[in-house]
Amino acid sequence: MRRIFGKEKGIILKGREEIRKMRIAGAIVYGALKEMASAIRPGVTPLYLDKLAENYIRKCGAIPSFLGYKGYPASTCIAVNEQVVHAIPNDRPLKEGDIVGLDTAACWDGYHADAAITVPVGEVSEIHKNLVKTALNALWIGINEVSPGKPLSRIGAAIQNYVEMRGFHVVRDLVGHGIGKRLHEKPEVPHYFTKMVDDIILTSGMTLCIEPMINVGTHEVTYLSDGWTVVTADGSYSAHFEHTIAITENGVMILTLGPNDEDDLWRISECL
Ligand code: MF3
Ligand code: CO
Repeated sequence: MRRIFGKEKGIILKGREEIRKMRIAGAIVYGALKEMASAIRPGVTPLYLDKLAENYIRKCGAIPSFLGYKGYPASTCIAVNEQVVHAIPNDRPLKEGDIVGLDTAACWDGYHADAAITVPVGEVSEIHKNLVKTALNALWIGINEVSPGKPLSRIGAAIQNYVEMRGFHVVRDLVGHGIGKRLHEKPEVPHYFTKMVDDIILTSGMTLCIEPMINVGTHEVTYLSDGWTVVTADGSYSAHFEHTIAITENGVMILTLGPNDEDDLWRISECL
């Protein structure tokens, strides 16, 4: 396995000022997710949640990154139950027992940040509580593997190992990504172990989205005819969490947290 450093792979490294802008975008994304998560209850529609997020992002002086991206028609992706990701918000009311993936991104002064959480609607079944917890922990386990000098493939290896030990499955068709002036940049960040011929060595200045998608049943997915929505192949439920992170000389910075340390939306799901 040849080891390749970021520069050689077309990965755009960021400086302090660029990371600062992404941190602001990240705090806005956090706020938008919080607006949506706080509004979730039976009867609320994904379209309504999408408008809450869009209004919040615009009120902050940022631009919703998803809207118009490759023709995508909304500011968020709202994936209910067996929907994995990239689900277009619709007017079907949420109901008790659903699990809802909220995914959004914002652009501040030319730089993007992207994050996602999965939120239960009222009481959900034991297995789905377990699924959501596993997906949340998988994100942190992946982030834990990030430090300068380490191979990128460790992120996926650690996530897959943990998730399969808990009896769930990691989606392979969709991967995490670099981010910056563009929503999707190099490199790809798989959430499962892949024997990449050229592993990438994580270096300071890289900004990545780690976003494990975890299924109850098979890891396989299929695509709906709307051209966007990804669903599990077997109809089992799926959960998704995502952070944008930056690698600096001082370690890993999580860019999509709230402005205050105690403000951790990701704990909403943790307290299930
Ligand atoms: N977080 C998703 C991703 O990184 C967002 C998709 S953007 C969309 O793939 F516009 F295509 F929905
Ligand atoms: Co993403």
